[in-house]
Formats: sequence, C-alpha cells, structure tokens
Amino acid sequence: MPAPSKIAMGVAATVGTLVSAGPCDIYAAGGTPCVAAHSTTRALYDRYTGSLYQLKRGSDDQRRDIFPLTAGGVADAASQDKFCAGTTCLITVIYDQSGRSNDLTQAPPGGAAHGPEIDGYDYLASAVGAPVTLNGQKAYGVFSSPFTGYRNDRPNGTAINDESEGMYAVFDGTHFNTACCFDYGNAEIHNDDPGNAHMEAIYFGTGDGSGRGSGAGSGPWIMADLENGLFPSEDHIHNPNLPTMNSRFVTAVVKGEHNHWAIRGGNGQQGPLNTLFDGVRPDGPNGEYFKMKKEGAIILGIGGDNSNGAQGTFYEGVMTSGYPTDDTENKVQANIVAAKYAPANLNSGPGLQIGSSVSLRVTTPGYSDRYIVHDSDTVDTQVVNSNSDYGLKQRASFHVRQGLGNGGCYSFESVDSPGQFVRHSNYKLVLNQNDNSKIFHEDATFCSQAGLNGQGNSIRSWSYPTRYWRHFGGIGYIASNGGPHDFDNKGFFNDDVSFVVSTGFA
Ligand code: AHR
Repeated sequence: MPAPSKIAMGVAATVGTLVSAGPCDIYAAGGTPCVAAHSTTRALYDRYTGSLYQLKRGSDDQRRDIFPLTAGGVADAASQDKFCAGTTCLITVIYDQSGRSNDLTQAPPGGAAHGPEIDGYDYLASAVGAPVTLNGQKAYGVFSSPFTGYRNDRPNGTAINDESEGMYAVFDGTHFNTACCFDYGNAEIHNDDPGNAHMEAIYFGTGDGSGRGSGAGSGPWIMADLENGLFPSEDHIHNPNLPTMNSRFVTAVVKGEHNHWAIRGGNGQQGPLNTLFDGVRPDGPNGEYFKMKKEGAIILGIGGDNSNGAQGTFYEGVMTSGYPTDDTENKVQANIVAAKYAPANLNSGPGLQIGSSVSLRVTTPGYSDRYIVHDSDTVDTQVVNSNSDYGLKQRASFHVRQGLGNGGCYSFESVDSPGQFVRHSNYKLVLNQNDNSKIFHEDATFCSQAGLNGQGNSIRSWSYPTRYWRHFGGIGYIASNGGPHDFDNKGFFNDDVSFVVSTGFA
C-alpha cells in the first residue's frame, strides 16, 4: 500500500472550531502559518496524515516511517514497538509536517564540535528514551543525550535576516543540563558561528556554564539563543523575573521581529502561557543584535555551531512565518493542554523489585556461567556459583533502588559497599560512591526492558538510552548497537546486553 502523502493538508484555511484544530491550523488562522512543524508524538495539523518520523532498526538497518493513527492524531507507537521488537531503534528523520520539506536529520559536524559518529556526525536519538501518553495513547518523544543532534541546513521558508518569526516547543522540564546548547529553532546554514545575531532559537537548560544566561531560582530556564549568548532578556547575563520552568512538560515560546522579541512559557499539562520577557533586542540600536542576521537553518538539541554537550527531550515544535500574536499562542497552549501529555512507564519486560538483592547472569553462549561483578570500582564479569567465596558472592549482588536520576527507573547499589552504585563514566560501567551530584544520579540511573535476545532483562542507560549494559572483553560498558566504539560492535550485541536477573547471592 503506498504511504500516505507527507503533504496531506496544505494550509488549513478554515478553522471552524479552534478546539479541534491542530497547532498549525491555529497559527494559520492567526495569519502566521507554520513553515516547519516537527513532532514524533502527534500530527500538528488537524488533517495531517503523513509521516511523523522515520526509524532505523539495529538488527538489519531497515527503515520505517511512523504515521499518526488518524488524521491529526497521535503517532502509531504500536507500529514502532512491532518494528523494533527484539532490537534497537534510532530516530533517523523527524519529518516536517508543513509541506515545505524542512525535515530534521542527523546533524553534521560544526565549528565548535565534531560529533562521535562517522564523518563527525552527532548521535541519533533512541526511539524508546522518552515514552509518553497523549490522551491515554502511547507515543515517543525525542530524548536527546549529549552529542545527539538534528539539523536542516537547506531550509525552505524559515525567517532570514531580520524577518519575523515565532516558535514553540514542548520539552521535558526535568531533562536538561548546563552544557551548550539544547536548542530548537533558527540557526546558521554552515554549522558555524559567524558572529552575533545569526541565530534565533529556543534554548532550554541552565545556561552556558559560564554564569551567563540565567533567571530566577536554579533553572532550567527558557531563553533565546541569539548566537554567542543565551538571552534571558535584553540583558545578556541575568533576568531575575525569568522563572525556573521545571514542570514535567514545558511549553516554550520564543518569537522575534525587528527590534522586538519575547519569551513565553507555561506548563504543558495545564494553565496558560505567561509572557516571561517582552522587549527590545540586546545592546541597543548600535548593537549587533539590533538587525538580526538569521540564516534560517533548523536545529534540534545542539547550538548553532554544533556545540553538542547539552541534553533535553523534545516532543513537538514549530516555526512560523510572521510574529504570532499572544492570542494565537494562547490557543496553541490550550491545544497542547488538551492533548493531555502524561509520562509513561520507562520500563517494560520483567519487573525488578525495589529493595531486593539481585544478580545478573550473562546469556552470551559460552559465557553464561559469568555474572556482573565489581572489582573495587571496576565492573566486569566473573564466574560465580554456589561454591564461590562469600566476598565474590557479595560483589556479584546489587540492591535494586529507585532510580537516583529518575524515579521511574532503577539504580544498583553494591551489597558489599553500601552507598556505592553502578554508574557509567566515559561509557564504562564503574562502581562509585554516590556524591549526590546531578550527573552522578543521572549516570547511575538505568531502565529495564525485556532482554533483547529474548532472555532476562536488558538494562538501558536512562541518560543515554541508545546504550545498554554490555559485557565486552569481560568488562562492563554502556554500549549502543553499531555505535562508534569497539564495544558498540554489532556482533553478539543482543546476547551481550541480555542478563538473567535472579535473587542476589548475598
Ligand atoms: O549562543 C550560544 C552558542 O554559542 C550558540 O548556540 C553556538 O553557536 C555558540 O557556540
């Protein structure tokens, strides 16, 4: 059967009842149509039936487009689950629903950073890192780990130079960091930083790490990345009136026109959008931001020059032609609230019992008498059985705790060294003392799913969901299926990442 057209609707000229209209129908009715519309969770036009995103699975590199279940509806997550069963899946394309082919694909290297993949490309996101429900129907967002990025350097119809535009995105308000730059929006077409004012994107996180770009509280904040600055207002440094936005779902808005721009934000599950800043461009009429030099490329998860250390989760977002009115955006917010985003279970497959002591037995043929063990701070595999000495039995046993970085997943505390947890560090599994830092908590958080080879469980890193506990050369890693490192090797991947979880030895 031929795939439904990606351009299924044209501009929705008549918006009878705005309640049933999608975000882009609402923008069109307001005279500021979407020129890019991206979402892996739902159609953003009431009549859109085309592809939402494309998957590539690890078992055979086959690709599959995911469509909405109905016109204007939620993504067909069941079709993803079926296609990805027993293997890994990456999101390769986030299609533009506006009909302008402004699709987002794997970001190429840029002036600030080369990504870890072949030819310096950034990582692609796992397809299973950000499960949610919309009105009770399952869908998946885009969980962007550090070094993950999407881009379109051949834009069609997005704002350039000082032209007006609007943008919104729905993010996870609990997934962020301080690295540059978890952005969605307008950026340079050459992946480089040619100077101030060449970008206008929504930024979400806790600033650029240098103390510049902050608001009230401890963040995260919605700011504008206007190049060489994450702006909380026309002041480069600080806006005491810019609130921390840490609800589970955050609606973030940035819009700009000549010498005028605004930041707006709200809770993606309830309530209105609030105007968080509305004013003139930074540095006054003689400053470089006075007349913007936007280039119109589209980025997701990275900075304009491919600065790629940031993390965040994206569910949906658009860019418009023209400066949307607050009233139009308020209706879009009502539509987002009506979509009823809710978190979904991050775990699947056999459950782990919080508080229990467990052992994890290797299932790779020829190695199945080995267990995950820690040797001091190294995590590796060793043969363990009932005759093993008590010390080894203890080192092969871990208490299952609620995830330190996300309570929906798990952490594994050593039985013989209380307070020390399995974490990943530089993609290796290690056992370290919990220092209660954000990064420790995130690195020590793992979600569980049915073993990829059909046995036991596969233990997925919460913060790098393309990566799973793997034994490779006897050592523990978090490995992706076919990634850039030797331990990401596809050979025996499913076996190496599947462990039979049983009651601990001690
Ligand atoms: O403006 C902040 C960042 O600075 C931009 O995203 C990037 O291009 C530059 O490094």
